[in-house]
Amino acid sequence: MRVFSGVQPSGDMHIGNYLGAFKQFVKLQYEADCVYCVVDMHSITLPKDPAELRQYILDIAAWYIACGLDTKGSILFAQSDVGAHAELAWVLTCSSYTGELSRMTQFKAKGKGAESVPAGIFTYPVLMAADILVYDTDVVPVGEDQRQHIELARDLAIRVNNRFGGGVFVVPEGRYVTEGARIMALDDPTVKMSKSAENEYSRISLLDDEGKIRKALSRATTDSDGEIRYDEEKKPGVSNLLNIYSVFSGKSIEELEKQYAGQGYGTFKNDLADLTIETLTPLREKYLEIRHSDELVGILLDGAERANAIAEKVLARVYDKFGLGVRKR
Ligand code: AMP
Ligand code: TRP
Repeated sequence: MRVFSGVQPSGDMHIGNYLGAFKQFVKLQYEADCVYCVVDMHSITLPKDPAELRQYILDIAAWYIACGLDTKGSILFAQSDVGAHAELAWVLTCSSYTGELSRMTQFKAKGKGAESVPAGIFTYPVLMAADILVYDTDVVPVGEDQRQHIELARDLAIRVNNRFGGGVFVVPEGRYVTEGARIMALDDPTVKMSKSAENEYSRISLLDDEGKIRKALSRATTDSDGEIRYDEEKKPGVSNLLNIYSVFSGKSIEELEKQYAGQGYGTFKNDLADLTIETLTPLREKYLEIRHSDELVGILLDGAERANAIAEKVLARVYDKFGLGVRKR
């Protein structure tokens, strides 16, 4: 089984990214052949500062490794270092329709009310389909918000297969993360924890020190009834904290409710802060070590070479079906 997924390069990774993405990816390395990508080409749909972008690529790569990815077994690389992504994206663009791309909710959200939208935002899902299809991917672990993009990748694979009587693409499946999939903001548990929120106490960043973690958790929004009980509707703040506690500790929510029956929010938050610090400290140490080591670029280049070997074969098959080029690939 081949697994592929990608994360955009950006700064300030938080516990939502860890629990909803990196941790899930790392878990899969023991059961599948994993290809993980820092999707830098996706991140230039809006202009990015070039120096910053290059740093962010290395940041994300270091987080994958700090979270436990073994890059000898799995492949880790930067998207733009493997040319086949962009090449296949063009072929797939020519198999897509403006109608289906216009229906993408992310495109609609970003283009709302605008007369003109950067074309990269419009074709973003086609590049994502190329990322997936160019590795004969079976399974794509992603958040629920990516469902529509995965459906497009499947539609394109099936469409091209039908045109050529089958055998061009493997039709991928999404595996939608459930555990840790929606870590909510600490100051407003009705919205997802996000790096772009203005209030820095709305999130716990993976690089936060002890003081910041304690402060963010002690300030976290709860409610006035004082009971540690899971109820997303009536007690969204406490429920979010219970969820975070549960994924960090491996204990079920019911177990935690029992453990904290009759206790106040203060103790509960304090224990959660201890647990968070205990979990994040080794991650942060590993991150700082790998991020500043000379090896990191080499790991990504080695990953790109191994990724390229797979992608070139798939691309050769596609070019052959479409009748593109005269060079023997
Ligand atoms: P982003 O930082 O939004 O580009 O997301 C990077 C990865 O982290 C994606 O796989 C997201 O699904 C995941 N992610 C982002 N925010 C959260 C959150 N609050 N809870 C769970 N997963 C998240
Ligand atoms: N669009 C994804 C996101 O915003 C990132 C991504 C790009 C991706 N290409 C991918 C995820 C291929 C999975 C597979 O999170």
